[in-house]
Amino acid sequence: MSNVVIVGAQWGDEGKGKVVDLLAPEISAVVRFQGGNNAGHTVIVGGKKYILHLIPSGILHKGKTCLIGNGVVVDPAVLCKEMDALAAQGVDVGPGRLKLSFKAHLIMPYHRALDQAREAGLAEGKIGTTGRGIGPCYEDRAGRAGVRACDLMDLPLIREKVARALKEKNALLALYGQPPLDAEAVLAEIEPLAARLVPHLADVSSELAACEKAGGSIMFEGAQGVHLDVDHGTYPFVTSSNTVAGNAAAGAGIAPSRLDRVVGIVKAYTTRVGSGPFPTELADATGDYLQEKGAEFGATTGRRRRCGWQDAVVLRESVRLCGITDIALTKLDVLSGLKEICVCTAYMYEGQKLDYPPQVENGMARVTPVYETLPGWSGSIENAARWEDLPEAARRYIGRLEELAGVPVSIVSVGPDREQTIIR
Ligand code: GDP
Ligand code: IMO
Ligand code: MG
Repeated sequence: MSNVVIVGAQWGDEGKGKVVDLLAPEISAVVRFQGGNNAGHTVIVGGKKYILHLIPSGILHKGKTCLIGNGVVVDPAVLCKEMDALAAQGVDVGPGRLKLSFKAHLIMPYHRALDQAREAGLAEGKIGTTGRGIGPCYEDRAGRAGVRACDLMDLPLIREKVARALKEKNALLALYGQPPLDAEAVLAEIEPLAARLVPHLADVSSELAACEKAGGSIMFEGAQGVHLDVDHGTYPFVTSSNTVAGNAAAGAGIAPSRLDRVVGIVKAYTTRVGSGPFPTELADATGDYLQEKGAEFGATTGRRRRCGWQDAVVLRESVRLCGITDIALTKLDVLSGLKEICVCTAYMYEGQKLDYPPQVENGMARVTPVYETLPGWSGSIENAARWEDLPEAARRYIGRLEELAGVPVSIVSVGPDREQTIIR
């Protein structure tokens, strides 16, 4: 199989974890290239549930190398905890198969504190972040003040960087009415984790090159979704990294020409956690139905996810931004039982019909969706194993999404388990 990038085509939680796990047998290595433990990727195998935040979702397949690229922001405490939890379940997370880029930036306790303090201070304009310190860590990366994974081999350097950082961060925390952090307490958290993580440090770019040279193929596991991208998403209600497929190259250290297939993961309806515009959001009984039937609670924060109809405008833009070659459509089973299913095909914006989202700040908050209504289907589809097993109306819905997005649907997921999948 050629190299494949997995991206969420909506606002995250599309089911990327399930699809990465599903496609993992065909590849040699899985690498995360952006985001951090704001992500929560669920994999269910034989009824057993695993939620991965930092470790690639290929980890459940023996023999696959799992890598955390330079573009990821890593909370060392969270990574160690995740390793422990998997090890306790018999999963090999040894340095031979789980590798962390020397160049990945570390989320420090002051990043978490600042993220939470800012959100608490914002009230109305709250982004609704996961509070994991993602934004402040990326700020320090851009500001050239970050602590990187390679620094774990040089504790005196970390000590220096922490002292310098706290001068500034403590002043900021004071501004938000928060107590200062003590350098020794910060170091006391980091130092014991260093010994654990140093054996996992690797030149991820070279590892990927070696994997390809040996004839292997690579999967790039995106986190969040295209419309949470710091540039292309619904700014400022976005995350702090580029989530588009192009960042797989920069965030893992591989040439863009090495990205072959791009699978866009699309939920059969739309969800969003946190604040920000959501044109097809349903604040009614149908929204509640999707939320309950889809068990739409955040895999990281446990927050209730906002739910709404499928939005082809959002999908179309994701296809354009990422070069999506094919779609994996998830949670189709959740739509079963609805009499009618709506799909947003365009937006009305300032008297004009738009095929793509308006590009100005919060433009998406001022659009009116144009809907097309399709017939629904009754009965459960959770056991459908072949395309022919799906009701006619479900196949029609998928066909219409293909027309609207302009790319084929190659995978249909009809339940959370690895086995509940139709490959076309
Ligand atoms: P990710 O962040 O994109 O990996 O997605 P999450 O794991 O946050 O959320 C997706 C949720 O949907 C998880 O609880 C999955 O177990 C579940 N899921 C994935 N595919 C399906 C499906 O086809 N049907 C149902 N009912 N649940 C699914
Ligand atoms: P996965 O990979 C859904 C959202 C947060 C918030 C915004 C910014 O599981 O799909 P941040 O903590 O990143 O600064 O928060 O982004 N967000 C996600 N929403 N799925 C995710 O990841 C998300 N990661 C961040 O809710 O609105
Ligand atoms: Mg998730």
